[in-house]
Amino acid sequence: MANLIVYYSRTGENYLNGSIKYITKGNTERVAELIRKAVGGDMFRIDTVQPYSDRYFQCLEQAKTELQTDARPEIKAFVEDISEYSTIFVGYPNWWGQMPMCVCTFLEHYDLTGKRIVPFCTNEGGGMGGSEKLLKKICKGAIVAGGLSVRGADADRSEPVVASWAKRRV
Ligand SMILES: Cc1cc2nc3c(=O)[nH]c(=O)nc-3n(C[C@H](O)[C@H](O)[C@H](O)COP(=O)(O)O)c2cc1C
Repeated sequence: MANLIVYYSRTGENYLNGSIKYITKGNTERVAELIRKAVGGDMFRIDTVQPYSDRYFQCLEQAKTELQTDARPEIKAFVEDISEYSTIFVGYPNWWGQMPMCVCTFLEHYDLTGKRIVPFCTNEGGGMGGSEKLLKKICKGAIVAGGLSVRGADADRSEPVVASWAKRRV
């Protein structure tokens, strides 16, 4: 069975090594591509109907409100047939110690019984935060494998570590 690599990753302003930069490809997307290179699979990017702001500080506020209200922001599309996949890599940035709520919107859409969920998270020091705990709660009947935390600013240099981790998860 094929692997699915699903992720949310934001473009726009981000805080990188102490200053605000405008990026056109997110850190999590870079790691998702390294996973595909290492183990193969279909990629799927989660996109919200209402985009998060590309202004960093506005996005911080939006993300905080979503987390506090346990929101489920609408997303543009879903993977049509998830039954083709037994292993699902799920990638996201750490937002306020948690995954963006749009990742919950995606996962809760499916019956994930018997699937292996393999999380990966980019961040600026907060690691996986509480995301693995939340994944175990919302992916009922699935096995949540040990995740990988990558420092966002190091995403491009993370290939060896990402590749060896991904190969151990399939
Ligand atoms: C709204 C928001 C909240 C964030 N909260 C945290 C946090 O709590 N801990 C942390 O280590 N990094 C935090 N970050 C930094 C991101 O996790 C990091 O830059 C990540 O690599 C971004 O991934 P992306 O480019 O795929 O969106 C936050 C970034 C944003 C935009």
